[in-house]
Amino acid sequence: MKKLMSESYAVKTANVLPPDSNSHGTLFGGRLLQYVDDIAAISARRHCRESVVTASIDSMDFLKPINIGEIVILEAMVTYTGRSSMEVMVKISKEDLTRESGKTLAAFSFLTFVAIGEDNQTIEVPKIEADNDRLQWLKDTGEERAKRRLERKEQSQSLSSFFSSDLLE
Ligand SMILES: CC(C)(COP(=O)(O)OP(=O)(O)OC[C@H]1O[C@@H](n2cnc3c(N)ncnc32)[C@H](O)[C@@H]1OP(=O)(O)O)[C@@H](O)C(=O)NCCC(=O)NCCS
Repeated sequence: MKKLMSESYAVKTANVLPPDSNSHGTLFGGRLLQYVDDIAAISARRHCRESVVTASIDSMDFLKPINIGEIVILEAMVTYTGRSSMEVMVKISKEDLTRESGKTLAAFSFLTFVAIGEDNQTIEVPKIEADNDRLQWLKDTGEERAKRRLERKEQSQSLSSFFSSDLLE
């Protein structure tokens, strides 16, 4: 079964208020990560219609600060699928509603979710079909990104015995 990438599209828009900010008056990175994980999980569930868990979050570069008083817009879409895993791209933009300057890209990230059944076993997810050339590029380059993630996971696993003992021992 195949589903169009656009069928997994999900968007969240939020005000940036003082409780969401750090001491520089900009959106706290931890709050942004919470939004990113939340919207990406919705997109993955919209694609597979199953429960999902976050398997990994790729690095995130904060390109522009998002200031108190601006709004933050998060757009998410499934950009690659394996058997049970789904890569979701999240694009984060900001907008100052007091101006006509439009949206500015503030950050982006890729996350990987795995579909899980009630028995905690992984579930096969539908394949994706690109809606246009730009989405086709994201899909075509997804296999290479997935390969790099699994290499990184192997490195984490080899480090796990080192971290399993008390760091201060
Ligand atoms: C993610 C998890 C289900 C993977 O389980 P696992 O035993 O490694 O399962 P598998 O090796 O069969 O991998 C299942 C799929 O996940 C992918 N995967 C596993 N670890 C991954 C990682 N770190 N990054 C990206 N993909 C990963 C595999 O490539 C595989 O994809 P495929 O089915 O499309 O080929 C398991 O590690 C887990 O439950 N982790 C904790 C999740 C969690 O608590 N998240 C935070 C809260 S939701």
